[in-house]
Amino acid sequence: MTADSPVTALRELSLASAASASLRAVIRVGVADALGDSPMPVGELADTLGVDAAILVRVLRNLRCYGLFDDTGAGIVHTAASKLLREDHPERLKNWVLWVTEPWVWQLWPDLEQALRTGRGHFDERFGEDFFTQLHKEWPESTETFNRSQTELSVLTSAAIADALDVADVKTFTDVGGGRGYTLATILERHPHLHGTLVDLPAAVATPDPRLRPGGELAARSQVVAGDCLTEIPVDADVYQFKSILEWDDELTVKALGNAKRAGHPGSRVLIITNLIDDSPEPRYATGIDLLFLLNTNGKRHTKAGVTALAERAGLRVENVTPAGTLLHIVEAVIP
Ligand SMILES: C[S@@+](CC[C@H](N)C(=O)[O-])C[C@H]1O[C@@H](n2cnc3c(N)ncnc32)[C@H](O)[C@@H]1O
Repeated sequence: MTADSPVTALRELSLASAASASLRAVIRVGVADALGDSPMPVGELADTLGVDAAILVRVLRNLRCYGLFDDTGAGIVHTAASKLLREDHPERLKNWVLWVTEPWVWQLWPDLEQALRTGRGHFDERFGEDFFTQLHKEWPESTETFNRSQTELSVLTSAAIADALDVADVKTFTDVGGGRGYTLATILERHPHLHGTLVDLPAAVATPDPRLRPGGELAARSQVVAGDCLTEIPVDADVYQFKSILEWDDELTVKALGNAKRAGHPGSRVLIITNLIDDSPEPRYATGIDLLFLLNTNGKRHTKAGVTALAERAGLRVENVTPAGTLLHIVEAVIP
């Protein structure tokens, strides 16, 4: 059997979840942070972490197949990919990996069969609440991981968004579902004439980005508002940004965009910033997260045509779809 034979490909794919589980386990016990720049014998690494050395060897052996961690003979070393699991890495993805491997995620995957049979996700029936209510009420540790993971993703994309935005002629900018506000803060820094409002659920805005807090360097040009965009968006603004928030049930997307239309004025712009599934440079990632959205919020990664149709259903006029960096697109609509 060669490494690229269909039999091998299928056998390996069927156990891809072992790699996800290994990734989560090494983060939880702290392998990436314990490992510095020089090789560390696996026994010493295990002793430092207080874990079983023989199992650590096996877990690292699995991750090595995917390019994470290496064994030089003198000991275990980082690779470029495993370094992204370190707390101090500027492009850290540690919380993102934890988020998509949370215990409730493993509970949800078997529901894919039911979704196939019924045409929708069944999160509410399994947990008795909609996804965000359940997350904030029952899983506070997971909520913290989620908010951190969103900031990690924003660190990767915010500069490209701030560069791509044409906001010379606008004064007020509202980021709806903006999480802790990393992206809004980056945009306000890049465009010093803008005033910004961060709107998100109370659990997300409880600890906003330090730049937006009272005394922070952007405090005078920003406000942080706890609000539910499915009920009302409590700000009249020239621009409403929805970044990576409309990947939930289509009816909710239309409702949220409709609330932006009600809150704004004719000529206000609505920017939907998202990873379009039909134009993604990471098809395995994009199609995978699309299925997780199906199972948690009955949502999806959008196609260009799909998101345009939803914006139009909400009464907006879509004018442009442009890339923002390599990972995201800006779908630009106007309130007629
Ligand atoms: C995937 S995160 C994206 C966060 C941020 N826009 C970013 O790109 O980093 C989705 C965000 O939507 C927020 N959210 C969910 N339901 C909401 C609602 N009904 N009203 C306002 N925000 C909501 C969540 O709290 C979360 O911060």
